[in-house]
Amino acid sequence: MTALEAEKRIAQLVHEIDQHNYRYYVLSDPSISDFDFDVLLQELIKLETQFPQFLSSNSPSQRVGGQVTKEFVTVKHKFPMMSLGNTYSQDELKDFDDRIRKAIGNEFEYVCELKFDGVAIGLTYHNGTLVRAVTRGDGVQGDDVTANVKTIRSIPLQLKGDNHPIEFEIRGEIILDKKSFDRINRDRLDIGETPFANPRNSASGTLKLQDSAEVAKRKLDCFLYALYGDDLPFNSHDEGLKKAAEWGFKISSHYKLCSSLQHVFDFIDYWETERQHLDFDIDGIVIKVNNYRQQEELGFTAKSPRWAISYKYKAQSAITVLNSVSYQVGRTGAITPVANLEPVLLAGTIVKRASLHNADQIEKLDIRAGDTVFVEKGGEIIPKITGVDTTKRNETSKHLQYITQCPECGTELVRKEGEAQHYCPNETGCPPQIKGKIVHFTSRKAMNIDGLGAETIELLFEKGLAKNIADLYDLKKEQLVVLERMGERSASNILEGLEKTKEIPFERVLFAIGIRYVGDTVAKKVARYFGSYNKIEQASLEQLAEAPEVGGKIAESIFTFVRNTVNAEVVRRLEKAGLQMSALHDENMPMGHKLKGLSFVVTGVFDKFGREELKSMIENNGGKNSSAVSAKTSFLLAGSDCGPSKLEKAEKLKVKIISEDDLIKMLE
Ligand code: IVH
Repeated sequence: MTALEAEKRIAQLVHEIDQHNYRYYVLSDPSISDFDFDVLLQELIKLETQFPQFLSSNSPSQRVGGQVTKEFVTVKHKFPMMSLGNTYSQDELKDFDDRIRKAIGNEFEYVCELKFDGVAIGLTYHNGTLVRAVTRGDGVQGDDVTANVKTIRSIPLQLKGDNHPIEFEIRGEIILDKKSFDRINRDRLDIGETPFANPRNSASGTLKLQDSAEVAKRKLDCFLYALYGDDLPFNSHDEGLKKAAEWGFKISSHYKLCSSLQHVFDFIDYWETERQHLDFDIDGIVIKVNNYRQQEELGFTAKSPRWAISYKYKAQSAITVLNSVSYQVGRTGAITPVANLEPVLLAGTIVKRASLHNADQIEKLDIRAGDTVFVEKGGEIIPKITGVDTTKRNETSKHLQYITQCPECGTELVRKEGEAQHYCPNETGCPPQIKGKIVHFTSRKAMNIDGLGAETIELLFEKGLAKNIADLYDLKKEQLVVLERMGERSASNILEGLEKTKEIPFERVLFAIGIRYVGDTVAKKVARYFGSYNKIEQASLEQLAEAPEVGGKIAESIFTFVRNTVNAEVVRRLEKAGLQMSALHDENMPMGHKLKGLSFVVTGVFDKFGREELKSMIENNGGKNSSAVSAKTSFLLAGSDCGPSKLEKAEKLKVKIISEDDLIKMLE
């Protein structure tokens, strides 16, 4: 293919893929299968790699992220990001309506919209291209989060049509739908992290992640609701929304023009109950005067526009009785107290249980068995107890004592300084932890063993056939077929599934063995950095903390895990069974003396090899590694993300700076 042909095909693919993204993420009306979409995307990525001169930063291939932002740059808002006055009753709305009538008379209309419960964002477009995305911050200046925002599929990188202003800003709310929120929290619980309290917190935490590739995985979404510019080509808010939808933005269809306050009340009443059926959270309704000229006439107070206001729904709550508190033990040993309630109807569902989070929460509420309690469903999916009606308290009730021993295995619980949760430290002997670890090991994102789900694992554990993940590899067909609901075929499937895990790369094995706080991303980074389980075992706490994505908490967790003798034995057995405990390309790694007499400093993050792996390559070929650049250094092997000081020193001392490809060439 010639460069000219490539340029043409890339432009065609970009347009086609943008169009499919729009249909899927904005209109929810896809017109091709995921597979066919992937084929197009792969073709684009291939061409852009071959012809990098035609790769644009707004290509849909860039949606997967990859840019790492160490610190977000602060940007001043061209138009201050104001907030809205809140109202909670019809009376307050009536006052708002009176104020407007007094100022501009009776000839006006309102637009009623949903009040999305997320994180405010301002997107600036120049000549139809997204150039900047900034958070609210303090309203005057916010953080530039463009790299992260570009991963949100429903935000157009390039606008449709050609009648848009040269430059304008559109504002909206970044949200996380309820399903994605549940998925993220399940993953967090799975690795022992505290779950996010609600979708809003989760969206805001996600937007501030440093690694945009991680943001891409979280599946944020964005509804837009306000346009700002020096000469916008329309006269009213609803015209603006319609135009913005034509340009490719995701505009909620649930807005309404209202010609009277009664219509506003009807809209509010309708969504008060209907909001349960939305797949994202709203916390109220926003009411805006439609006409721009009238908006201008009404103007602003110091904090908010006089032409708009929000009506906030009260959190849905109910009163019931707390029967008892029970304690759950998770896979990582985290203890979660759960309130067992007298069943009560709340927001359309019967609630029997509520989360109590941790010991501090119980202490704060001073909650006691038999208490009459207030249960609320706000943004949270699981209801929470917000207070106790002490006037209804039984005189003889006793202060609730938090448990000190694991309810499952009796081990003394521990609580580390600065952590909210109590833990059962008996990682290798506590039944729910053992079963949870095996379930995690076989799960889709880990070893993906079909047919080995929670129920079968429960059976295997009860029968004493699986007391840890390594035991799975000793299972015999005769032992499986006699289990309840297990036929010849299912037994074979399980054994085949186990056999296949031997081909799974080390980074997934590292995730699957279930080290607390080590999710799939961290596992990948650590595996690539160290190259093998052996190297991880040998690493000091400081060396572990140097790996990308690994902070003190994770380093300590890995350090403790690998030093636990039971874990060490399990890993040894897994290795013996044939699982990949190394990503080192040992067999292909050249050995010799080509680097004899040369001294290297290796720094940064590399694409093809881990840093430790590169160091081994140097040593295996007669070279020497040192940590600081000096006049004696022959080469500085620099990856991405390396600190400027080593580079500067190397340049000053005229030490040659090379890439990992250069090193590979030297060894060939
Ligand atoms: S209009 C001058 N419309 O709620 C402010 N805001 O509490 C113009 N919000 O700052 C904002 N949904 O972050 C507007 N349909 C909607 C909204 C909305 C959610 C957020 C936004 C705003 C905050 C005010």
